[in-house]
Amino acid sequence: MAAPLPNHPQLRGNYGPINFEASYDDLVIDGSVPEGISGSLYRIGPNPKFVEGTYHWFFGAGMVHAFHIDNGRVDYRNRWVRTPKLEQEIALGHGLNLDININKDTGQLESNRRNGVANTHILTHGDHLIALEEGSHPFSMDPQSLTSKGYGHYGDGINGAMTAHPKIDPETGELHGFGYMTDHFGSKTMTYHVIDRSGRTLRSDVFEAPYAAMIHDFVMTRDYVLFPIFPLTCDMSRIATIGFPFAFDRSVGAYIGVLKRDAPVSQIRWLAAPVCFVFHYLNAWNDGPKVTFDAIDFPVAPNFPSADGSNPAHADAQGKLTRWTVDVNSGRIDRDRTLDVASEFPRIDDRFAAARHRHGFIASASQRAKGDGGLFNEITHVDYDSGKVQTWDAGVGNGVSEPVFVEKGPNSPEGDGWLLATIYTAKTAISSLVILDAQAVSDGPVATARLDHRVPYGFHGSWRPNR
Ligand SMILES: [Fe+2]
Repeated sequence: MAAPLPNHPQLRGNYGPINFEASYDDLVIDGSVPEGISGSLYRIGPNPKFVEGTYHWFFGAGMVHAFHIDNGRVDYRNRWVRTPKLEQEIALGHGLNLDININKDTGQLESNRRNGVANTHILTHGDHLIALEEGSHPFSMDPQSLTSKGYGHYGDGINGAMTAHPKIDPETGELHGFGYMTDHFGSKTMTYHVIDRSGRTLRSDVFEAPYAAMIHDFVMTRDYVLFPIFPLTCDMSRIATIGFPFAFDRSVGAYIGVLKRDAPVSQIRWLAAPVCFVFHYLNAWNDGPKVTFDAIDFPVAPNFPSADGSNPAHADAQGKLTRWTVDVNSGRIDRDRTLDVASEFPRIDDRFAAARHRHGFIASASQRAKGDGGLFNEITHVDYDSGKVQTWDAGVGNGVSEPVFVEKGPNSPEGDGWLLATIYTAKTAISSLVILDAQAVSDGPVATARLDHRVPYGFHGSWRPNR
């Protein structure tokens, strides 16, 4: 029997889970869905059915929300990702801790890479729909019904876990990803994975980072992969002092690992980098040895303590869109702030991944107030060529998700398309799917598909076109 969830800030309001799975056809639509949009938008986030002991938003069981769109009509369904952990919890009627065990021989913490929470990102590669979370293997689901297939159907045989932010190269069709702390929890080991469209692992090579740290995302261009390591370090001895192994420790510096894509990992070179923190990169490209990437830079790691146990100041917990240029030969790194607005969840027109992009799309909050729970209430388009910035404001107190780009047609120019996002309206406590013209964001939604319930705040999502 499911018990009430604990009274916890990340289980209240729209951070709290919903306790049902629904199939809900032909949503009521304000406006009209543009002709030609045919496919599915997937969103994923934490939605715990059970909570045992302490809770953190990052560790709730994943739930997928799918909006299947065709001929102007929107059908919706939501399903939990039926990981072995969630199946066990349902069978037992109570929550379980993450499957992390102490190895009796080595004394090290080890986790079962096929017993995670699959709550961070969901994307398609070839015919595979995979739910991702950085401590575990990819988890396969059926793209239409959202029936869970499980671990081991895609990228089987990778060493350790895979990031929730792999990159798909539109030219080769390959997916590039990485894992961290792959030997054991707290280790410096990382892996570089390449997986083909059939889901076959092409490489999964182990290398060592300068130190053990939480690493959420990375950078890929046509010729290089870059592994930026910022000092959100992992030290098990901190459990005794500050109660948590991860803390931001600027004393150890920051590094960017540089590797030619076709080179062995033994050739990774580590460049010294400015100390800051990045969860997410918009995109990257290279012109010879000059790599350019756009990132959401934070002064420190938000939501994590400093090494002395103190918490970041409010102003330091705001991420801002920043352009990095890295000369991989000389090691010179320059940074320029693009937009002085608190932002996250950067996305591009994915047809231009790993190549020079002109357009960026982000969730933003230009009127951020202390105590707003980190909400983003705006969707913003940045045109890097013209310098023009357009914003649509969903209303302070309402929450917007990451905006996912859908091109108008296969031959449309970069950025000529639509942005799909979910919004949560606080007053009515319901969510909707909004569709904006990516080149006229400030005009607001051209269509709003209404749900009768809320989609809890989640992390990431993606578009899968009907073929
Ligand atoms: Fe992420």
